[in-house]
Amino acid sequence: MKRRSLLKAGLLSIPFLSLNPLGLLANPKKMKPMSKEDFGKGFKWGVATAAYQIEGAWNEDGKGVSIWDTFSQKKKNIKDNTNGNEACDFYHKYAEDIKMVKSLNMDVFRFSVSWSRILPEGKGKINQNGIDFYHKVIDTCLAEGLEPWLTCYHWDLPQALEDEGGWTNREIIKWFANFVEILAKEYGEKVKNWMVFNEPMAFIGAGYMAGIHAPGYVSLGKFMPAVHYANLAMAEGGRTLRKIVRNGKIGSTWSCTAVEPKNPNAKKHVLAAKKADAMFNRVFIEPALGMGYPFDDLPIISRLKKYIEPGDDELIKFDFDFIGLQNYFRTVAKFSLWPPIMWVNVVPGKKLVEDKEDLTEMGWEVNPEGIYKVLKQFGAYGKEIIVTENGVAYEDVLDNGEIHDFKRIKFFEDYLKQVLKAKNEGVNITGYFIWTFMDNFEWAEGYHPRFGIVHNDFETQKRTIKDSGNWFKSFLND
Ligand code: BGC
Repeated sequence: MKRRSLLKAGLLSIPFLSLNPLGLLANPKKMKPMSKEDFGKGFKWGVATAAYQIEGAWNEDGKGVSIWDTFSQKKKNIKDNTNGNEACDFYHKYAEDIKMVKSLNMDVFRFSVSWSRILPEGKGKINQNGIDFYHKVIDTCLAEGLEPWLTCYHWDLPQALEDEGGWTNREIIKWFANFVEILAKEYGEKVKNWMVFNEPMAFIGAGYMAGIHAPGYVSLGKFMPAVHYANLAMAEGGRTLRKIVRNGKIGSTWSCTAVEPKNPNAKKHVLAAKKADAMFNRVFIEPALGMGYPFDDLPIISRLKKYIEPGDDELIKFDFDFIGLQNYFRTVAKFSLWPPIMWVNVVPGKKLVEDKEDLTEMGWEVNPEGIYKVLKQFGAYGKEIIVTENGVAYEDVLDNGEIHDFKRIKFFEDYLKQVLKAKNEGVNITGYFIWTFMDNFEWAEGYHPRFGIVHNDFETQKRTIKDSGNWFKSFLND
């Protein structure tokens, strides 16, 4: 990497900052490095993962087929033509992986349950092997002194349910509640922290409108009912957990992005930003909070009104205990004739940076202030917030068996400073989970973007803690 880029990434300044005792003496307040204590006692630190991205064992021990199994087997859907058949083989390596999470001084292991491992057909017959597997995962966490945080749904819908319309079929509210009830009854005595969904805007938007994720539809006609039924299912899932899990803490997670207009002085771009904010940030949380859909700021979603039945205004509400906030990039929105109907487009990451080296492997711009802004924005809803995902993919180079991922460390330092700033200004933030524990199957991108603080060799399944993992280990050392 060029010296200029290193300087820009702040890497050349890190050793100087932390090793310069004169600097510390000269201005102790300014130079004091951020510490775990700054976030307060009881603040939870964790790593987040998702079933399809790590488990593998896609057809073992009675597991049914999910939409991601189907989608990833089709040529061209995944950039590097891979799939999650084996992924990180967490299904067999869970015990050593969970021990490694603990060795990094984490408090929390966040994982999701594969619906088709529990119910191969999505409903009906239960697969006891699937039930047993998650008991083992949970028991290992508890034995290690890690809190298991369970996400009920992280995008891998059973294919049998998709064959009946998936999220576009109103019946999914019942199917999902039935699945959640099984999870709550099985694991509710051991697991106290629950997330109903992972990022509904991502799986409904990318799956039914953009077509880049499973099940791969590009259809406004499917997107509209799917939005409404997912919102109803999320609230029903929350109620089901509340009924069954004693002293449970029940949340869900939302993808959040700080939206700005391309030009704040151009009315058309300001209007575009308002629409983008409503679409990306508000459609899936405000109905649950009793605020209804943002029809005024996003007229296009009036098209879902025809799917609203009497009583839905109440059924869609659920009083979540916390908001799981997930942030990766900001969104700069502009008026555009393409795509039509919404007339909003997003300025690509590469146009937002001066140097291509500043882009992440996903092509995203790094924008720490963005997490501060969304924390303030979502903080205004008045609920407890946990950052349930934040992280970055950079190309990692194995150097004599080590990975010196300084840019990733810099990313975490810069983002954490902004989280702390929002917290110090009164936003009720009580935890921060890293995306992600180890390099894994990154959906339509395949295995190339590496988000882990632990490196995985996908040929040998050998895990190697990266420098960023060790950075967290010492940062979190009591
Ligand atoms: C998802 C993860 C994904 C990450 C990085 C999040 O939106 O929850 O599953 O790997 O983004 O793209």
